[in-house]
Amino acid sequence: MTRDLQGKTALVTGGGRGLGRAMAEKLAAAGALVAVNYASNGAAAAEAVAAIEANGGCAFALQGKLAGASTARALAEALAAQLSDRTGSDTLDILVNNIGGGEYARLADVDEALYDETFANNVRGGFFLTQALIERLADHGRVINISSTGARLTDPGIIVYTMAKAAVDAFTRVLAAELGPRGITVNSVAPGFTAGETNRHVMDDPEAARQVTENTALRRFGTPEEIADIVYALASPLGRWVTAQNIDASGGFRI
Ligand SMILES: NC(=O)c1ccc[n+]([C@@H]2O[C@H](COP(=O)([O-])OP(=O)(O)OC[C@H]3O[C@@H](n4cnc5c(N)ncnc54)[C@H](OP(=O)(O)O)[C@@H]3O)[C@@H](O)[C@H]2O)c1
Repeated sequence: MTRDLQGKTALVTGGGRGLGRAMAEKLAAAGALVAVNYASNGAAAAEAVAAIEANGGCAFALQGKLAGASTARALAEALAAQLSDRTGSDTLDILVNNIGGGEYARLADVDEALYDETFANNVRGGFFLTQALIERLADHGRVINISSTGARLTDPGIIVYTMAKAAVDAFTRVLAAELGPRGITVNSVAPGFTAGETNRHVMDDPEAARQVTENTALRRFGTPEEIADIVYALASPLGRWVTAQNIDASGGFRI
């Protein structure tokens, strides 16, 4: 593929597994030096780095469970040290705020722990990491926040996740206004049902899987690579004139 990210640096939070791993692999295949962040599964992150290196790319694993301001500052410092060692500069070109996820629960079943955890993973993590990295983000860089198709739907069974991802989209628009004068674009990508461990229980349930595919214009689950392609498109020079947008990458789920 075109190595149009050669010389760029990227951080993918939650890049050790799932969609984040596909994003890390794609950005590295395009030439970026990629920091693969993970919370606790060092083996999975090491596997992701090994796969990138086997493909001729450059990456390193970066442990750090994001939750708020102090964990974000610690991760930003660890990233800066690694980037300085490897490139002579601590500048970050591409920040992908990917961590997130959420449990299915209706209003009556949501307790404070679930509410706080969902907002911590989806909103607080990326918000405070972006704050901690703001001075080190390169002019004309990229911030890509991973949202969800859920943010535009009204499924009572997953109310807190929907609220949290709507906050991610609002954060994206406001941040685009703040960082625009520096030439930095800020967008969110909203995956729909994507094949992988997160949706294993849906894919393995024929009725649930049928409901997904019948409600998807393109009649199938997406792949992590298809989400990574959109992230790459926004990160590449071709994405330079797109900002403050929410890009739905769901194959047309419930359109
Ligand atoms: N999968 C889908 O179909 C889908 C659909 C819509 C939106 N999304 C969104 O896409 C993003 C990725 O989803 P996914 O399904 O690929 O998730 P996933 O497979 O659960 O991603 C796990 C990765 O995130 C890391 N992680 C989790 N919490 C973390 C934290 N607090 N700090 C640092 N790293 C953390 C994990 O580290 P360890 O390996 O150490 O645990 C791992 O590397 C999420 O924002 C999700 O909401 C996914």
